Amino acid sequence: MQIIIFDDAQQVAANAAEWVAELINKKSNPVLGLATGSTPISLYQQLVNKYQANQLSFKNTTSFNLDEYLGINASNEQSYRHFMNENLFDHVDIDKNRTFLPTCNQGENPRAQGLAYEEKIKQAGGVDLQILGIGANGHIGFNEPTSSLASRTRIKTLTKQTLTDNSRLFKQDEFQPTLAMTMGIATILDARYVLLMATGEKKSQAVKDMIAGPLSAMCPASALQMHENTIVLLDKAAASKLEEQEYYQWANDQNIKINQKFGLYHNY
Ligand code: GLP
Repeated sequence: MQIIIFDDAQQVAANAAEWVAELINKKSNPVLGLATGSTPISLYQQLVNKYQANQLSFKNTTSFNLDEYLGINASNEQSYRHFMNENLFDHVDIDKNRTFLPTCNQGENPRAQGLAYEEKIKQAGGVDLQILGIGANGHIGFNEPTSSLASRTRIKTLTKQTLTDNSRLFKQDEFQPTLAMTMGIATILDARYVLLMATGEKKSQAVKDMIAGPLSAMCPASALQMHENTIVLLDKAAASKLEEQEYYQWANDQNIKINQKFGLYHNY
């Protein structure tokens, strides 16, 4: 894992945008894995800014989102499709026919939908760069604690903690789904690069468990310890429980020099 600690959330977003932009500018048909939640919103804002400044085009980009609520229509304001349109897709030149979410509409078989989503990712050539946030309980996507580390796209029941954490996004009388479709942990590990963003003190324990804890289904993000190319972007608050901060800083100083010479990616 490459762990990079910034002063604040804005710097985290700016650096994440550099990773995305370099991939898109270097690869002819990039495939992005995208995430929802509050954390990546400022990344999407930065990408929109870059597009508007003619520094970036999404014309050849395909995207796969991590997750989507079950049985929620795309027109529903709470759907992750709506979130993606609002925060990114409507403001850039991406072909919406090549933006995918693991949807499962009323009456559809979630198992069949999960398999079909895996197949679609494969046909697109696999995810080049997967953007991730992290839940306060260590979840990635909607892979809640106890999720199989070998899991694939499937239906998941959300934990009480996640429902409470996300309830801030729902109005008082609004229906809050308890089930979701999510890429599995093995699906996420298949991505060539993983870029996880975490900001705020509330994430500090999950961040510590992910980086320094044991590999365990109780902290699904710890599975990233098994991934060859994971970059973790943190603000100071999210990093506050890490004991090896000085080493991460030192290692990052060396990485910056290497990246300046050879680019951010090994293979693009
Ligand atoms: C949600 C999403 C995750 C996201 C996480 C943290 O439930 N399914 O993909 O990373 O929770 O969200 P936030 O960035 O709002 O803290």
